[in-house]
Amino acid sequence: MGSHASHRRSDRVIAIDGPAASGKSSVARELARRLGFIYVNSGGFYRAIAWYLLRKNIPPEEDDLISAALDAAALTGNVQDNESRILVDDVDPGEHLRDDRVNETVSRVSRFPRVRKIVSQKLHDCADGHDVVIEGRDIGSVVFPDTPYKFYIHASPEVRLKRRAAQGERDEIAMRDHDDVSRAVSPLVIAADAYVIDTSHVTIEQVVNEISARLGQIGLPIRDLRITNRALGE
Ligand code: CDP
Repeated sequence: MGSHASHRRSDRVIAIDGPAASGKSSVARELARRLGFIYVNSGGFYRAIAWYLLRKNIPPEEDDLISAALDAAALTGNVQDNESRILVDDVDPGEHLRDDRVNETVSRVSRFPRVRKIVSQKLHDCADGHDVVIEGRDIGSVVFPDTPYKFYIHASPEVRLKRRAAQGERDEIAMRDHDDVSRAVSPLVIAADAYVIDTSHVTIEQVVNEISARLGQIGLPIRDLRITNRALGE
């Protein structure tokens, strides 16, 4: 390993931001699979915190109580099957991350600077020593502003509503969008240097192809990278 260390390329972060149900998760997961990168869903961290606060009966408005609860909780991220997994006090919230009540409160919880700082730190930990595809709201704009690989994925509100309903979830995405766009700290914005894709009328595969082509154009050597990964036995 040591002989490779001096040749090690710097860790790469591909940022995929966008609003609820825009197709980010499917696109980011598939892109990560193709590239051999680790897939990280930053929303999962915010959801895990919202889930934990619900379990503790802490209202999503109470900044001080939230801070105290977060001081007491151990939020950890690890990697399993090339994806990030989140544990709170060693418990994996699993399917509960998509509970209706989590959908209802997560955007209110994620507006607190303290919460954002904690999640941002966890995301940097995830990227440390790894190539990652991270999806979220502020990954290209705030968390990894220096990465050259930034994408913003969106779709019409009608299409997004249909997609979420097809997933069988009750999710007031218009309200969440409003909260995410209007919050004071790191709101959902299109980073100036992000490549924007409308996914309303295209397949996941087409979006991933478009992103791959773009990555090639801006210098991410995708094929070499696969060979390198194999050669290193990663
Ligand atoms: O499921 P969906 O893609 O709609 O959302 P998510 O990515 O799971 O994120 C859930 C919520 O977490 C968002 O509505 C935001 O309030 C918050 N979030 C954030 O503030 N910043 C991020 N980087 C990711 C998520």
